[in-house]
Amino acid sequence: MDGNGRWAQQRHMPRKLGHYQGAARVRGLIAHCAQVGVKSVTLFAFSTENWHRPSDEVDALMLLFIDYLDKELPLMLAEQVRFRVLGSLARFSPAVRERIEFAQTQSQHNTGLMLNVAANYGGRWDIVHAVQQWHVAHPTAYVGALTEEDLSHYLSTAGQPELDLLIRTGGESRISNFLLWQAAYAELYFTDTLWPDFDEAELQKAFVWFAARDRRFGGVTVSAP
Ligand code: IPE
Ligand code: MG
Repeated sequence: MDGNGRWAQQRHMPRKLGHYQGAARVRGLIAHCAQVGVKSVTLFAFSTENWHRPSDEVDALMLLFIDYLDKELPLMLAEQVRFRVLGSLARFSPAVRERIEFAQTQSQHNTGLMLNVAANYGGRWDIVHAVQQWHVAHPTAYVGALTEEDLSHYLSTAGQPELDLLIRTGGESRISNFLLWQAAYAELYFTDTLWPDFDEAELQKAFVWFAARDRRFGGVTVSAP
């Protein structure tokens, strides 16, 4: 969800307002995803590198996170959304952590769309953490026998469908330590649109683009002659 700061700066507003505007986009986009049958969505809200931002911006993002969960949880529950945070919760304040844990517990048996929010998340962290967790579960196992399939059970996205489409807004053409493992065969969609301007019509454009991709997964096209 990139481009909140620039969106605000273009309007001579504090960056914080761009983040609020960006967060306000999420509800409609999630509803659109659920409507077209998307099973799982992951929003990159806060990376492990984002802690390096000025402390007033980090504080504003934490308050926004709290505000978002307080406002949106009842709606998510009503819509059967299953909410999860991907990332280590250790660095968050108790106020943030409690809300995350509450939202996860309250929504864990929901049967609708899975909404993952990557927060204090890094793709490299995810892979290293998975190896560590695998080792905790199999302390005497021979590491040489570890397979991709084994490791996938310990990633933050374990049990979720394969990542099909990765969208980055805000004009950059990089993955920036998002779902590195999971993006192995994802289609990558880059748009200059700033996140607060990324509405349902923009999302639908990405879906239409995705639908026209020829996905071979390293094989050859299987199509009628
Ligand atoms: C949002 O956009 C990303 C978050 C960390 C929430 P940015 O804050 O990166 O916006 P730009 O790139 O400065 O425009
Ligand atoms: Mg940015």
